[in-house]
Amino acid sequence: MNTAPGPRGWPLLGSLPDLARDLPGFWIDLASRHGTVAAFRSGVETCHLVSDPALVGDFFQHDTQSYYKGKHTQRLASVLGEGLALLNGPPWQQRRQLLQPAFDRRPVSRWLDIVTAAFESQVPVWDEAAARGRPVEMVNDMLRLTQAIIVRILFGRSVQHQVTTSILGAVDTLNRNMLRHLLREMVLGGWLNRWPLPSTRRFHAALATLHATIDGLIAGQGEGNQDEDALITFLSNARDEQTGARLASAQIRDELINFFLAGQETTAVALAWIIHHLTTQPDWVDRIAAEADSVLSGRAPLIGDLSRLTITHRVINEALRLTPPVYGIGRRTLIDVELGGWRIPAESVVIASPYVLHRHPAYWEAPTRFDPDRFSPSHRLSPRPRYTYFPFGGGPRRCPGRHLAMMELLTIIAQLARRYRFHGVPGPRLVPQSGITLRPHPGVLVRLSPR
Ligand code: HEM
Repeated sequence: MNTAPGPRGWPLLGSLPDLARDLPGFWIDLASRHGTVAAFRSGVETCHLVSDPALVGDFFQHDTQSYYKGKHTQRLASVLGEGLALLNGPPWQQRRQLLQPAFDRRPVSRWLDIVTAAFESQVPVWDEAAARGRPVEMVNDMLRLTQAIIVRILFGRSVQHQVTTSILGAVDTLNRNMLRHLLREMVLGGWLNRWPLPSTRRFHAALATLHATIDGLIAGQGEGNQDEDALITFLSNARDEQTGARLASAQIRDELINFFLAGQETTAVALAWIIHHLTTQPDWVDRIAAEADSVLSGRAPLIGDLSRLTITHRVINEALRLTPPVYGIGRRTLIDVELGGWRIPAESVVIASPYVLHRHPAYWEAPTRFDPDRFSPSHRLSPRPRYTYFPFGGGPRRCPGRHLAMMELLTIIAQLARRYRFHGVPGPRLVPQSGITLRPHPGVLVRLSPR
C-alpha cells in the first residue's frame, strides 16, 4: 500500500514555513490540491490531513484504539497534569466514564443561574460603554465572563473573591505564556523551559499559585458549606465503579485545571466570533432579539426556554461552522493504519480539521458566506454527511462540555441581542489567528447601542 501524496516541502523544514504563515489556510490548500488524505512534513514529523467526511468518521471511530494523544499534546503536561485531556488508554476511559455524567444535558442545567448571574454582572460595564459611545473588545470581555462562570461551576457559587482573584491571576499568566512554553518544549528538548528566564519563572510561579489555591480548596471540602452542584464536590465524592477508590487530591486538582482551561477560552472565542459575524448581519441581530423578546418576555432564560431559541441556535451553529474555535484535532498513530487506501505509518500524525470540512466546497454551497439558514429545518431534509460539521469533535473523545457550552452561548447571545445593537468599529482587518484556539486577531472591537 502506498503512502499518501502531498507537497515535498523544504529540506529539513518540510512545510513549516507555510504552516507558520497561515495554518488553516495551508490545510485548505493542501486538501484542494492533494485530495482526501494528504501528507506533509512539519520538520521531521510526517503529518496527514484527512478531509473526507467518511474518513474523518473512520478516524474518530478508531480513536483510542489505533490513535492516541502523543508527544505534542503531552507537552502541555506541566499544566494539565494527568487530566482527561491528556490521558490515554484505560486510565482515560475510566476517567471519562467517571466524569461524563456531570456534563450530560440535564445535569448541566443546574448551572444556568450561574451563567445568567455572570451575564447580569457584566451588563453595567457594557451599559456604561454604550452610554459613552466607547467601543468594547469582546475577546477579553467574553474571557472574563466565561472565567467567572467556570470558576463557580468548578468551585461553587460562594467561592471567595480572594480565591477567584488568585486563580484568575494565575490562569491569566499561564494563558499569556502557554504558547511560548509549548514552542520552547519543541526546541532543544525543552531545555529553555528549565532555564530560569524571567518568563519561565513567571510561568512556574503561576502554576505553583494555581496548585496551592486549588489544593487548599480540595482540603477544605467536607468542612460544610460546600456547593453540592460544584464539580469539586462531585470529584471529591466520586468513586471508581470497579475498585470503589476515591480520586487522589492531585488527580482532582489536575481534572479541575483541565476543565477550567478547556472550558474558558473555547467558549469565549466562540462568543467573540459570533458577535463579530453579527456586526455585519443587523437583520439576524433583529431576528434574534425578536425571538428573545417573545420567548423570554423580559426575564432571564429558564432551562425550558433554550430549546425554543431556534433562530439564535442557527446563528451560533453558522458561526461555529465558519470559525470553529477548535480548528484541528490531532492524534498520533499507535500502529500502521489504512485510511482511504493509503498507508499511514505508526507514530505519524493524523489531523481532522473542522475548519477544512466546514468550508469544503463539495459539501457547502458558497462556503465562506454567513448563512444561518443552512441549519434551518428545511435544510435538514437533504442532510449532509455526518462529519462535514463537527465543532465539538467526534468519537469517544467528543467534547464532554458541549451541552454546557451551548447553554452558555444561547443564554449570552440571546440576552445580548435583546439589549443591544452591535456596530463594527473601523480598524485593522480581522483575521483568524491559530494558537491553541482560532482567535479573532487583533480582537473584536464593537460599539454597542441600547435597543
Ligand atoms: C464552544 C466551546 C467549545 C468547543 C468548540 C469545544 C471543542 C472541543 C473539541 C473539538 C474537543 C475534542 C478535542 C480532541 O478530540 O482532541 C473538546 C474536548 C474537550 N472539551 Fe471542549 N469545547 C468547548 C467547550 C468546552 C467546555 C465548556 C468544557 C468544560 C467545562 C470543555 C471540556 C472539554 C474537555 C475536558 C475535553 C477533552 C475530552 C477528552 O479528551 O476526553 N469544552 N472540546
